[in-house]
Amino acid sequence: MLTTVLALETSCDESAVALVRRNNGKTQVLSSKIASQVEEHARWGGVVPEIASRRHLEALPFLIEQAIAESKVFIPNVDAIAATVAPGLVGALMVGSVTARTLAAFYSLPFLGIHHLEGHLASILLSKKPPEPPYLVLLVSGGHTELIEVIDHQKYQRVGRSHDDAAGEAFDKVARLLGLPYPGGPSIEAVAKHGNPNRFQLPKGRVSKPGGGFYMYDFSFSGLKTAMLRRVESFDASVEAIPVADLAASFQNIVAEVLVERTLLCASNRNLKKVVMVGGVASNSRLRELMEASCHKNSIEVHLSPKAFCTDNAAMVGAAALNRLKFSNSSSSLELGVSARLSLHQAEALYSQNPLF
Ligand code: KG4
Ligand code: ZN
Repeated sequence: MLTTVLALETSCDESAVALVRRNNGKTQVLSSKIASQVEEHARWGGVVPEIASRRHLEALPFLIEQAIAESKVFIPNVDAIAATVAPGLVGALMVGSVTARTLAAFYSLPFLGIHHLEGHLASILLSKKPPEPPYLVLLVSGGHTELIEVIDHQKYQRVGRSHDDAAGEAFDKVARLLGLPYPGGPSIEAVAKHGNPNRFQLPKGRVSKPGGGFYMYDFSFSGLKTAMLRRVESFDASVEAIPVADLAASFQNIVAEVLVERTLLCASNRNLKKVVMVGGVASNSRLRELMEASCHKNSIEVHLSPKAFCTDNAAMVGAAALNRLKFSNSSSSLELGVSARLSLHQAEALYSQNPLF
């Protein structure tokens, strides 16, 4: 059976539209269009919410036209319309949500509000051989660093998290410290290629428990950020030029090691034989190599989100919507709004006919 979804993603600084289809159990991307606003925000060193909303509003109609032209699927022929509704920047989310709800109302189609993290999790369905649950997911993006056990389709349990910055946020802040452009992840990765990852000893950031000991599967990047600041300051005070490439490589390496070590420890202690990695930071080559090598060494099956679907995109939102349709035939109320915050275990509430927000 064929099911086709038109999906929109506008939670942060990428305007994205996709047409995604489920065909005999396989998820196919018919078209995935992204208009990045990164250059516009780079001038300010980070995302400016007001600019993001305006750019989404300008970009969406064109992206929808392009996606239709490429896929040759017209809106009356899709089965549902989906948009990310939480968490994210409310003004930005509202643009995608209102557009999707308007189209759904006009064409009398079901509307599905999608949780952004469920979108990232669903990006693994766009890989060649998607895994079946149960599995452990390391979700690493600009807003989140979480270890999530996917117990079954749409049944999640968060088992680890960052207590301060998300991994992507740490990349962005450290890049700024090193004088590299926003977004920090790709710029750190690029200069790190020419650097020595072992030159600087950096802390792995453990999170203490109030009664003693550590949270084994949690993360903290604030100490690492401070350590990087101190290194930069010490070079600033000396005659030696800041060794940007070595600092970037050492930072990238320690972040990759921390993420991989704790993911594997968690998988092993929870007896999970499959590990999945998704989110913007999951496109980092060093992290991908280390995750693959460590999983192979420990006889754990590893699934990485395809690079093209790691950073924000609408194909992953469409894939999440296809799952919601398949496993619970869900749809959202047209009165559903948007929310800056919503934990993943509340995603189910997006399909209540009495919306939470
Ligand atoms: O998933 P995403 O596109 O948006 C959020 O949901 O947050 O992730 C964006 C984050 C940014 O912090 C960016 O610096 C980081 O992902 N990122 C990377 C790489 N590409 C993007 N971090 C490390 N290495 C990369 N190659
Ligand atoms: Zn994201």
